[in-house]
Amino acid sequence: MTIDLSGKVALITGGGRGIGKAISIELAKSGADIIINFLRNVQAAEETKKEIESLGKRCELIKGNIAETETASKAKKLIEEKFGKVDILILNAASGVLRKFWEMDLKHFRWTFEINVFGQINLLKEILPLMKEGSKVIGISSLGATRAIPYYTFVGASKGAFESALRHIAVELSSRKINVNIVEAGVVETDALKFFPNKQELISESQRRTPLGRLVSPEDVAKVVLFLSSDLSDMIQGQTIVVDGGYSILA
Ligand SMILES: NC(=O)c1ccc[n+]([C@@H]2O[C@H](COP(=O)([O-])OP(=O)(O)OC[C@H]3O[C@@H](n4cnc5c(N)ncnc54)[C@H](OP(=O)(O)O)[C@@H]3O)[C@@H](O)[C@H]2O)c1
Repeated sequence: MTIDLSGKVALITGGGRGIGKAISIELAKSGADIIINFLRNVQAAEETKKEIESLGKRCELIKGNIAETETASKAKKLIEEKFGKVDILILNAASGVLRKFWEMDLKHFRWTFEINVFGQINLLKEILPLMKEGSKVIGISSLGATRAIPYYTFVGASKGAFESALRHIAVELSSRKINVNIVEAGVVETDALKFFPNKQELISESQRRTPLGRLVSPEDVAKVVLFLSSDLSDMIQGQTIVVDGGYSILA
């Protein structure tokens, strides 16, 4: 079965590299035009744009910190001018400070929540008028939303808040027939991991414990996002789909 997203427009926050890039490419391969928001890595975003255009799809870039309301306003304006709508919104961008709880202060807590929760939800609110019946919203989260991972305290807390907000929003947007779901990924080897003080241990422990015997790849996550972006998932609402090779079902 092939999924056809021709004529659809997808906005992916943090879509220039890592998991967001895999999602951008997967949706473009299925026919969607793509808008990528990113923070500062222009080169990665430009390369992803080129790859998408080589697939014959349109791609626009929006540079800006999602934590700043101007970024959401800028995104809305550009999308109105260039596409007139958003069918698929992927809330993927994330940041945060990875340290022991007692080494951090409120500014680290705020920074993490500003991006991972407030910025993402504000973008959804801003873009909502451009989303019609049948549109899809997918939040990218991690096992740390519900489990304790070393050095992940504030990011995990932000992911928990993000997931909860999306579940509430799923109920509210049901009257507009918009689906809101979450994909929770296990450890994926992207640039994000280099900020973990225990990176090697995180990777080897994840490989060792995963029943399916390997790490999750960005493409593994992107394929599930593709399913949730299509009408195959029309009756899935407010759910969290875990993509971790079975890691989290073990005692
Ligand atoms: N890697 C994992 O093991 C893992 C596991 C589970 C879930 N996840 C989740 O998957 C998502 C993507 O993670 P990743 O590993 O692909 O991360 P990544 O490689 O670090 O990429 C993060 C992306 O988000 C963008 N970004 C960061 N802060 C931003 C901001 N304030 N405003 C706008 N864009 C911003 C970055 O833009 P620039 O390119 O401009 O820097 C980049 O494109 C995150 O939500 C993460 O929590 C990751």
